[in-house]
Amino acid sequence: MEKKYKIAVLEGDGIGPEIMKEAVRVLRAVEPQCEARFELEYAPFGGQAYFDHGKAFPEATKKVCDEADAILKGPIGLSHEKSKEIPVEERPERGALLPLRERYHTYANFRPVVLPPELAHLSPLKARVVEGGIDIMIIRELVGGLYFGQKEQGTAECGKRFVRETLEYDEAQVRQIMIVAFEEARKRKKILHNVHKSNVLMSSVFWNKVLDEVAVDYPDVTVRQIIVDAAAAALVINPRQFDVMVMENMFGDILSDLAGGVLGSLGLMPSACVGAEKSYYEPAHGSAPDIAGKGLANPYSMIGSVALMLEKSFGLESQAQRIYAAVRKVFGGGYTTSDLADSDRGAQVLGTSAFGDKVIEALTS
Ligand code: NAD
Ligand code: IPM
Ligand code: MN
Repeated sequence: MEKKYKIAVLEGDGIGPEIMKEAVRVLRAVEPQCEARFELEYAPFGGQAYFDHGKAFPEATKKVCDEADAILKGPIGLSHEKSKEIPVEERPERGALLPLRERYHTYANFRPVVLPPELAHLSPLKARVVEGGIDIMIIRELVGGLYFGQKEQGTAECGKRFVRETLEYDEAQVRQIMIVAFEEARKRKKILHNVHKSNVLMSSVFWNKVLDEVAVDYPDVTVRQIIVDAAAAALVINPRQFDVMVMENMFGDILSDLAGGVLGSLGLMPSACVGAEKSYYEPAHGSAPDIAGKGLANPYSMIGSVALMLEKSFGLESQAQRIYAAVRKVFGGGYTTSDLADSDRGAQVLGTSAFGDKVIEALTS
C-alpha cells in the first residue's frame, strides 16, 4: 500500500522561500518513484513569523511540526539592522531555531561536506589539495554545550557588569552523539576524527573520556584525536585526510561553515538534524540577506536537505541518490550558480529557479 508522509514546511526568512520552492519541486518530481505520497503543510517560522504573528515560533506552527513525520526548514534570520526591531529573546535564532532543536531533541546534526571528483574545481583551494574530491561527514552535537547551558548577566558588587554562559554536557548526551558518530564511521571508512580542546576545557576532557568508553564497542573503528584549532587548519591544508568528524555544538557550528568554504560556497551545505523521534532538515547556512529576493541563491543546500530527509526519515536511499546524481549532472553539464561562478569560469550561470529546472530535467529525462 502507498505510504503517506506528513511534512511540515517552514520556509523561513531571506532566501528561505526561494530555495524551498525549488526543493519542493524536486520532492514532487521524485514522488512518483517513492511509492509514497507527501502531504505538505506550510507554517510560519522565523523573523517574518514574528512580524506577522507576534512569535518567531507560533503555537500553530508547533502543532504542525508535532503532527508531521518530518520537518523541512529553510534558513531563518534577519539582517543585523532588522534584527534590532525585535526583542533579543524573540529574535528568530533564540525564539525559533533553538526552541525547535530543543523541542524535538535533534541532537545529531549531520553536515555532509561533499565535492565529487569531477567538481573538485569548485573549491577555492589548489587543485592538488582537492584532487579526487572531498567527502567528509561532520557530526555536530546540536542540543548541548554552550548553546544550551545556563546563562547569567548582572552587575557584580564592584559595579562591573558581567555575563556568564556555561558549557554543559552530561554523560548520556555525549554517549548518544558518540554512538551516532561510531555507527557512521563503521558504515564508511572506519576512521573517526574526534575534535576537542582537552588541553584547556574540562568539558573536552569529559567528552574524550566518554568517547573512550563508547569506543570499546567499536574495535573496528580507528579514532584519531585532533585539537579544534589544528583541525581548522587541517581542513584547509589537507581536507582529504578526513572522513567522519565528531564535535561539540559550537565547534561544529564554526568548522562546518569553514568546510562549506572549502567546497566553495555555503550553498553546497545541506544538513540533517536527527532526534530519536523526529528529525528536521535544513541548510547549514543562514538566510543570506545580502542576496535575498534576487533569485541568485544556490538551492542545492535545500535540495540536498530533501535528499537527506528521504534517506533518513523515510528510508528512501535510492531516491536520495537520484537527487544527488541529478545535481552532479547539472553542475557537470556546464551550469553553475552565481556563488560558484568564480571557480567555474566557463560555466553558464543560472538563477535559483533555472537551476531547479535543470535538476528536474535531469531527474525526469
Ligand atoms: P549566511 O549563511 O546567511 O550567509 C553567509 C554568506 O554565504 C553570504 O554571503 C551569503 O550570500 C552566502 N550564502 C549562504 N547561503 C547561500 C546560498 N544558498 N547560495 C548562495 N550564497 C549563499 O550567514 P550570515 O549572513 O552570517 O547570517 C544571516 C542570518 O542567518 C543571521 O540572522 C543568522 O543568525 C542566520 N542563520 C541562520 C541559520 C539557520 O537557519 N540554520 C544558519 C546560519 C545563520
Ligand atoms: C547554524 C546556525 C545556528 C547555530 C544559529 C542561527 C543559531 O549558525 O545552524 O549553523 O549557530 O547553530
Ligand atoms: Mn552556523
